[in-house]
Amino acid sequence: MISFHTLLLTNRDYSDRKEELWSERLILIATLFSLLWLLHLSSANKEGQKCINNSDCDSGLHCETCVADGNLVPKCTRIKPISPISKVKTLPFNKYSWLTTHNSFAKLGDKSATGALILAPTNQQDSITEQLNNGVRGFMLDMYDYLGDIWLCHSFGGNCYNYTAFQPAIRELKEITAFLEASPSEIVTIIIEDYVTSPKGLTKLFDAAGLRKFWFPVSRMPQNGGDWPTVADMIQKNQRLLVFTSKQRKEADEGIAYQWRYMVENQYGNGGMKAGSCPNRAESSPMNTTTRSLVLVNYFRDVPTLPQSCKDNSDSLLNMVNTCYNLAAKRWPNFIAVDFYKRSDGGGAPKAVDEVNGHLVCGCGSIANCKENVSFGTCIPEAGIVPLGAPENDDSSFGHSNRGPVQLKWLFGTVLVTLLFLLSL
Ligand SMILES: *[C@@H]1O[C@H](CO)[C@@H](O)[C@H](O)[C@H]1NC(C)=O
Ligand SMILES: *[C@@H]1O[C@H](CO)[C@@H](O)[C@H](O)[C@H]1NC(C)=O
Ligand SMILES: *[C@@H]1O[C@H](CO)[C@@H](O)[C@H](O)[C@H]1NC(C)=O
Ligand SMILES: *[C@@H]1O[C@H](CO)[C@@H](O)[C@H](O)[C@H]1NC(C)=O
Repeated sequence: MISFHTLLLTNRDYSDRKEELWSERLILIATLFSLLWLLHLSSANKEGQKCINNSDCDSGLHCETCVADGNLVPKCTRIKPISPISKVKTLPFNKYSWLTTHNSFAKLGDKSATGALILAPTNQQDSITEQLNNGVRGFMLDMYDYLGDIWLCHSFGGNCYNYTAFQPAIRELKEITAFLEASPSEIVTIIIEDYVTSPKGLTKLFDAAGLRKFWFPVSRMPQNGGDWPTVADMIQKNQRLLVFTSKQRKEADEGIAYQWRYMVENQYGNGGMKAGSCPNRAESSPMNTTTRSLVLVNYFRDVPTLPQSCKDNSDSLLNMVNTCYNLAAKRWPNFIAVDFYKRSDGGGAPKAVDEVNGHLVCGCGSIANCKENVSFGTCIPEAGIVPLGAPENDDSSFGHSNRGPVQLKWLFGTVLVTLLFLLSL
């Protein structure tokens, strides 16, 4: 920037310093062009644009391919939904939707903490902490008694084995504790597939993990399909952890909510992926049961694979969300549960969550269009949204989200042209 200044001053005594001016002018032009080039390089790519690695993409995106879609060129794809409570906090908890990971703990490439090689399928690519940082707020965890402790295990027959055991559950729960401590207005839901039979096993586990202080009590959960407390109230009371178990008697015994008393849930696995239908899983009431105020939509296969999840998390997830909305008495899912949540050919699961939150929070097509502190009626017009059907893989720099860098570039270009014009006088 110093060189502009020098040059502008120099411009005043033009007659004395013709020669010097010419060379300084060249230096200035070179400087401006290199700044412009740097700015161009540093402005990251938008959703759908080509990339080489994650650092090429805007925040909230990463660089991956979606082979199952025949998409061999890596592109920037969404990994993070917009926080709906960053817009509006005054609605009941059941008026929000949360990105949820199925078998959140079953991380690709992990070795069992027993030292054994894991032979069970894996469902996610990153740790609980990374998932939390990417806006995942629902965690489906399978818990078993194992080696005198409670483990996260992807197993069968109610037993955990060293080749299906990932980690002692306390390790991952402590990651959630750390997150809730560091983020005083975030709310997390844990849904346990519960094989724990040791006396008060879960109670001891949650106490030891330091999660008790965030516990949302069963006594405050609506029993007959009523609205939940508002998120503002949950935050203010620091009741920011919801825990559900699949074992009915633990509600009375340990104060852990029995999941299907509060929630309807569709069939998981392949049975839940038939276009046009949204059957309930066996333990759940039918999807249209309005005496349960929370709705969970699963969308993942019996056998998880990266390429297939990528394809499933793309358009067909949103189709299923719409199908389930219609069959769940016109209720949008509060939890959208997927495998490999980061995988899609563009917006994927985070986009599905954003669209649902748009409908729930402000009645707009996406939470991106909701105004802060305005819960219904007005949508922010087109600033950040591609109209339905618009191409998402457009390679121009006019990305549809986060226009900041593009505007900066134009501002800079205008300044450059103006300066060159002034200099030529
Ligand atoms: C990502 O790619 C850019 C080139 O586009 C390169 O400069 C950078 O070193 C790469 N970063 C990593 C972490 O590989
Ligand atoms: C896993 O358990 C089996 C017995 O169930 C045992 O033979 C094997 O050594 C164990 N492997 C490790 C790595 O602990
Ligand atoms: C609710 O869904 C079931 C199918 O699961 C259907 O048989 C029933 O008619 C529906 N009830 C209402 C009120 O729509
Ligand atoms: C929305 O409400 C919150 C809490 O009352 C306040 O801190 C924030 O400034 C408000 N935002 C706008 C844009 O009015």
